Amino acid sequence: MNLNIAVLPGDGIGPEISVQGVAVLEAIAQKFGHELTMQTALVGGAAIDAVGNPFPEETYEICKAADAVLFSSVGDLKFDNDPNAKVRPEQGLLAMRKKLGLFANIRPIETFDCLVHKSPLRKELVSGADFICIRELTGGMYFGEKKEGDDLAYDTCVYTRQEVERILHVAYAYAMRRRRLVTVVDKANVMASSRLWRKVAQEVAKQYPEVTTEYMYVDNAAMRMIQEPTHFDVMVTENTFGDILTDEASCITGSMGLLPSASTGESTPVFEPIHGSWPQAKGKNIANPLAQILSVAMLLEHFNLQAEAQLVRRAVTASLDANVRTPEIQVEGAPHYGTKEVGRWIVEWIKQHEM
Ligand code: IPM
Ligand code: MG
Repeated sequence: MNLNIAVLPGDGIGPEISVQGVAVLEAIAQKFGHELTMQTALVGGAAIDAVGNPFPEETYEICKAADAVLFSSVGDLKFDNDPNAKVRPEQGLLAMRKKLGLFANIRPIETFDCLVHKSPLRKELVSGADFICIRELTGGMYFGEKKEGDDLAYDTCVYTRQEVERILHVAYAYAMRRRRLVTVVDKANVMASSRLWRKVAQEVAKQYPEVTTEYMYVDNAAMRMIQEPTHFDVMVTENTFGDILTDEASCITGSMGLLPSASTGESTPVFEPIHGSWPQAKGKNIANPLAQILSVAMLLEHFNLQAEAQLVRRAVTASLDANVRTPEIQVEGAPHYGTKEVGRWIVEWIKQHEM
């Protein structure tokens, strides 16, 4: 297969983990005989510094022409600490999502047996948790009308029926291949936009009689997720709720550095870790590259390259089992491995193993 990949390293630890994701992709391409073309492009704070725009037109063109985008992270302290900054790195990510029409963000929450003890939750609660959060990504408060004055500010949460319908169909498609339970998360007891979600969901649910649909208020869902994470199969929700719930969900697994995601929609799909740019760790070779590497596995799965994706996943599991881990998940007394060493180990493992 010919794969044309746009690589967007971004800010903070982004460039360091990006290199490892790319190395894994190259190793897989070589092993399975795929033709890879990669083009690196600017995004986020790096793009603001270089050309004054967090999602430059050139980057957009490169992404649009690519088969997939391998994205890392954006965000930098110098912008976080300045509420008056006119442009922000995060706007680059939002512009990318909007311009590529990436309305569906798929965030799988899977636990690794050898890491359940790292979770702040008790092992018996976390063991076996395996669900997907489908987050609507191009609507809601992120993109609704805004006003930002000195004495008054607002963000509006807007959804159309069509936006709600299309994300629900994505959720049901996943549920049909899984345990057939969809949890629609909203705040229909308070918000008008949530009542539209619920109304549309009740209609769409009828088209999938094999799937059980449940409705849960977001505050309750936040609680249930840590009370009984194994309950969930496919959770679907609007943009802001999904942002918050997936950070919470990442705790279940023991490290945020483990969770990949895929964003799909009208144009080129994007594969990225759910964690941010962690600027404090920049250049320290301590960031966990696994979320980025697992994003490569999701990318391969998107193109139905199942054997390739499986090999990446097996390599990741093997690295964890061999205690080749970055500091935040390392076991006591085991040697220190940095971002580069973990990446290199995984690449070597891939070279030496067959499916
Ligand atoms: C995420 C991030 C982004 C979001 C930020 C960086 C704008 O938190 O992908 O979850 O809020 O969507
Ligand atoms: Mg977030």
